[in-house]
Amino acid sequence: MRNPKAFFRPLAVGAPDPLREIPFRPSRMIHFFDPSNERMAAKVPDMVGKADVLLGNLEDAVQSDRKEAARAGLVRIAQATDFGPTQLWTRVNSLDSPWVLDDLVTLIPEIGHKLDVVMIPKVEGVEDIHYVDRILAQLEARARLPRPVLIHAILETAAGVANVDEIAMASPRMQGISLGPADLAASRRMKTTRVGGGHPGYLVRADPVDGNIDGERPAFQQDLWHYTVSRMVDACAAAGILPYYGPFGDIADVVACEDQFRNAFLLGCVGAWSLHPKQIEIAKRVFSPSAEDVRWARRVIEAMGDGTGAVMIDGKMQDDATVKQCKVIVDLAEALLEIDPDLAEQYR
Ligand code: GLV
Ligand code: MG
Repeated sequence: MRNPKAFFRPLAVGAPDPLREIPFRPSRMIHFFDPSNERMAAKVPDMVGKADVLLGNLEDAVQSDRKEAARAGLVRIAQATDFGPTQLWTRVNSLDSPWVLDDLVTLIPEIGHKLDVVMIPKVEGVEDIHYVDRILAQLEARARLPRPVLIHAILETAAGVANVDEIAMASPRMQGISLGPADLAASRRMKTTRVGGGHPGYLVRADPVDGNIDGERPAFQQDLWHYTVSRMVDACAAAGILPYYGPFGDIADVVACEDQFRNAFLLGCVGAWSLHPKQIEIAKRVFSPSAEDVRWARRVIEAMGDGTGAVMIDGKMQDDATVKQCKVIVDLAEALLEIDPDLAEQYR
């Protein structure tokens, strides 16, 4: 274990100091693009300001013979684009692949000054974060970067879930964690064939009435991801980093996508991945609190004055704990109205 004083010292001579707090920047949707796909790459400048985060994906979904083209494409796009308030992230190849070292050694010197976050797939334990942490520091020192590039882990292996608390606290560079339901399902040997979402077979059925098992018995589909998302949210909140739902693969099923995203939002996640422009709109709707909730939260905070004691508002008891919940909503609204003019109008 590292000495706590060393935790905030750079891991390479000349690397920038680690951050003491992860800055909260709205990241309701992490919009994936394939930098090896010329048509998709050409659209990136137009996406600036439309998605909170644009992510150049180098890992799964990029064919093995396109890996180098994707890496070079990302360098080109990053150098040529002014991202303004939009964050630029990348997902590099997994640590057991032959590509990841070249991904890091190329991207950090070339575009490290523009990259906010590097997403690491298939993280299994702290050793994976420590490996990337040290290499990033060495490369930042070499490139004389003034600020550290942050790490985001994908929770998509059974070992990763078992070790999620330690992963979240493995480095001051940890920015957040995303659920990776597709790889996680495979790693756990779940019997699904989808990317995120529920399954009609995973349900609870009402008890029979008067012992009649053939009578009317409603069944309710359950959420396959409830346990994992909850564990991830606790690990992230305890570590002061941010949790995200990952991909929802059925692009046409906007209803189920919205439901999954909303469950994640209500449980504490700050955003989700978008794989299609349709999902940007869904994430924007879901991960921005409603104007009504913001109004109510402000009313509670105001009525509670210094935040102690208790008051009744419309028959509902308010105290220190509801004020804290309401502050979560209002703080989020205030961060969002800075970057989203539509919301600014609704929230003010
Ligand atoms: C994402 O990478 C997933 O495997 O779900
Ligand atoms: Mg995956």
